[in-house]
Amino acid sequence: MSTKGKILVTGGMGYIGSHTTVELINQGYEVVIIDNLSNSQAFILDRIEEITGLRPKFYEFDLLDEKALDACFAENINLRGIIHFAAGKAVGESVEKPLYYYRNNLVTMLNVLEAMKKYNMENFVFSSSCTVYGQPDELPVTENAPVKPAESPYGYTKQVCESILRDTIASGAKIKGIALRYFNPIGAHHTGLIGELPIGVPANLLPFVTQTAYGIREQLSVFGDDYNTPDGSCIRDYIHVVDLAKAHIVAIERMIGGKNKSNYEMFNIGTGNGFSVFDVIKSFEKSTGEKVNYKVAPRRAGDIEQIWADTTIGNNELGWKAEKTIDEMTLSAWKWEQNYRKSQE
Ligand code: WQD
Repeated sequence: MSTKGKILVTGGMGYIGSHTTVELINQGYEVVIIDNLSNSQAFILDRIEEITGLRPKFYEFDLLDEKALDACFAENINLRGIIHFAAGKAVGESVEKPLYYYRNNLVTMLNVLEAMKKYNMENFVFSSSCTVYGQPDELPVTENAPVKPAESPYGYTKQVCESILRDTIASGAKIKGIALRYFNPIGAHHTGLIGELPIGVPANLLPFVTQTAYGIREQLSVFGDDYNTPDGSCIRDYIHVVDLAKAHIVAIERMIGGKNKSNYEMFNIGTGNGFSVFDVIKSFEKSTGEKVNYKVAPRRAGDIEQIWADTTIGNNELGWKAEKTIDEMTLSAWKWEQNYRKSQE
């Protein structure tokens, strides 16, 4: 069956990677996945096939393995683009294991870009994060806001990877790059077949909420209600993972179609709306009818008080806009939690 071409998705078995793979296939692309399954499980491939009717080619290896990476590129010399998700993403873990995070997130970035240069592949989408802004001086935060000293090794690796990409392109490499600065991805595909699969105790808010509602966790701790916000809890720009996934298709097609205005671009990928921790709890209870057992706990080290995106540039340049509501996000996360737990029983 003819397709629009082949896209390599590193980390394609992960939370955002699997949702992006589904949207790529829906848009007529053939997808090749590289994933070391350090933060996902093999059954996700079956779920991608169940949703789309097509099974991506899956290479299980670590991007630190340069030989395996070279062989994979040699087997797929006609890639139209690469979307690079594979990286450690847990802020707290990065503080405990900085050497792992610097090696894993930085060396893999170098390896992928070197392979792209060797095989003359041009289009690269990088999974960046609003973490690069720290606590912005002004809200909503625009792409022109200053990058602040990172609050964690994880956040610093995102800043360094953006510089690696920008400098590689500036050196004259035949690479076009777009960095997408995600805000807070939450929710799951409407089928409930794929979603966030935290290993161990979830660090992120919504998975902890859904596991508490399901009875896996005793009680949710709200990390601080004494911030300078309307209800005292931290504010974030939560974005549905499917809206986020669609932004990747728009970004790679912008470069494939030669629509990029410079060879290095970056865009905020958020909704432009800020919701507090209590707002998320209220939305979850309203959309699901479930009660969340929570207590207010001390602030969590490293948390910024509030951030939400100015999405003007991304909306105008990419012609992309987040569509799903906070209630759709919380309900879809609950449906995934229920489906996943039942499948494990
Ligand atoms: C959101 C809010 C917590 C858990 C981080 C990374 C970001 C991205 C997403 C990778 C905060 C509060 C949380 C809990 C709580 N990482 N919270 N109780 O920290 O904004 O972003 O994860 O993609 O790059 O920085 O997300 O979901 O951990 O926290 O009260 O049990 O929920 O204090 O205010 P965060 P989060």
